Amino acid sequence: MRIEKDNITIRSAQAHDAKTLNAWWNDGRVMEHAGFPNGLGQPMEETLRQINENRNSINQRCMIEIDGTPVGELNYKIHSDKAAAFPGWKICETDYQNKGYGTKIILTLFEFLFTDEKINSLGKIERIVWDTTLENTRAQHVYESKIGATKTKVEENAWQDQLGVWRTAVHYEITRKQFYALHFPAVNKQQ
Ligand SMILES: CC(C)(COP(=O)(O)OP(=O)(O)OC[C@H]1O[C@@H](n2cnc3c(N)ncnc32)[C@H](O)[C@@H]1OP(=O)(O)O)[C@@H](O)C(=O)NCCC(=O)NCCS
Repeated sequence: MRIEKDNITIRSAQAHDAKTLNAWWNDGRVMEHAGFPNGLGQPMEETLRQINENRNSINQRCMIEIDGTPVGELNYKIHSDKAAAFPGWKICETDYQNKGYGTKIILTLFEFLFTDEKINSLGKIERIVWDTTLENTRAQHVYESKIGATKTKVEENAWQDQLGVWRTAVHYEITRKQFYALHFPAVNKQQ
């Protein structure tokens, strides 16, 4: 897949992205939010395998580029039987965080997930579901105040991180109706 919006590009990861992804995934500062404060410690072959596993799938792992520079990654899984998409994202280069890009990237991804013909031909996507950690107050602010998502559940001690520390998950969802009403009110009237 490939989406371009202003100076942001979201595109499927390819073999030549392995070096960049491997460096991010093995960096504890980048991976702390996902529960790996020491990084994944992943060999390059495994990174390549993960890039290749979604090559012919509806589920995708993507690079995020700003002005042509790789700054982060995202992924999504489609569960047509549940009419839902399950994405995740991270801006890995700190210089590009807190500048409004995350909000723009997430909204662009959501519009794609709700409109892409291939994804929606398997069953119309009615909601997008994801989670974050209790400590990630920036992410929660973005999801609640800027994306307009619904906090569906706070799940205490939902999972243990790499160091064995129990982490609390905060779950979010946005429905198709909610998304269009908030971000495309004119389109919403025709839905
Ligand atoms: C979470 C993330 C996607 C947000 O994207 P971003 O581009 O950094 O965020 P934006 O610039 O669009 O918005 C940041 C907002 O959070 C606010 N903010 C910054 N730090 C904050 C904090 N510690 N607590 C609460 N709000 C905070 C900013 O003031 C801004 O809000 P405002 O526009 O109302 O002033 C991005 O920072 C990221 O990828 N972080 C690293 C990995 C990660 O956390 N991924 C998400 C896991 S679920």
